[in-house]
Amino acid sequence: MKIVHAKSELRAHVTAARKAGLTVGFVPTMGYLHQGHLSLVEESKKHTDYQVMSIFVNRIQFNDPNDFAAYPVDLERDFALAREAGVDLVFVPDEGEMYTDSLTFVDVGALTKNLCGAHRPGHFRGVFTVVSKLFNIVSPDVSVFGQKDIQQAVSIEKMAADLDFPVRIIISPTLRESDGLAMSSRNKRLSADERERALAISRSLKAAEKLIASGERTSGIITAAMKKIIDESRPTKIDYISAVRYTDLDYVERIDTKSVIAAAVYYGDTRLIDNMIVDTAGGKAKCVY
Ligand code: PAJ
Repeated sequence: MKIVHAKSELRAHVTAARKAGLTVGFVPTMGYLHQGHLSLVEESKKHTDYQVMSIFVNRIQFNDPNDFAAYPVDLERDFALAREAGVDLVFVPDEGEMYTDSLTFVDVGALTKNLCGAHRPGHFRGVFTVVSKLFNIVSPDVSVFGQKDIQQAVSIEKMAADLDFPVRIIISPTLRESDGLAMSSRNKRLSADERERALAISRSLKAAEKLIASGERTSGIITAAMKKIIDESRPTKIDYISAVRYTDLDYVERIDTKSVIAAAVYYGDTRLIDNMIVDTAGGKAKCVY
């Protein structure tokens, strides 16, 4: 596995891979890798021959400087995990390599109006800007994103279409710990007590799935049931528990089209997000979370 820090070096390796007839898969990350990240590499390997991963803690997407400062880093461990997962090249730029005196930013309009976009001003603009840059640097055929960050993934799919990035975006399911907690680099920051309480988030999604299976379609009833479960876990703060349409991420009163039910909840200083996709194709509602 190659570890490269410079864009020019990355381009040389990717060009050589392409000359050898290989297709390129790309998984952007901020490091502190877990099985969720590695599952994206697994998915990418199904579609492409040469795997590129980036590890870059992108300061401009952190609306809270304390969150940036506390973001966990362990590059040696990341390299070992990436190597084991079959990554061919890891791109680890420093801030100077990615940003000098940039004046250009990318936004995806209304898709970031709700959910995390409403609570983290500037966050998505930072994400789309760095992902655009990374797409231009790596020029992948396929790039894989996690359902865990559904607003990010859906918006990047739209961004790639709108801006004609010649890349296919794949959204891959959320990997969870055996007790249901969605894997996240931020989980490390939870105390044992907070981690236990945080299980309420995935429990609330299970409860929502049950309600939907029993025929309930009113968003307000479903999100109220989720809120009751989450409230009982004494969260520090709830940013949102919402139901939105999958395509435009706008609020829906009834779940009668492909939708996303998503929550963002703080335990202590740690903000956790989770969601499930409700697919209503064929009249039956199938929940994926
Ligand atoms: P990061 O949080 O490191 O996540 C990198 C990728 O891993 C994202 O596509 C995210 O959705 C996915 N991921 C995280 N937890 C997951 C889980 N439990 N199961 C499956 N996939 C999971 O998201 C970012 O970094 C950044 O915003 C980035 C896109 C790299 C831009 O800076």
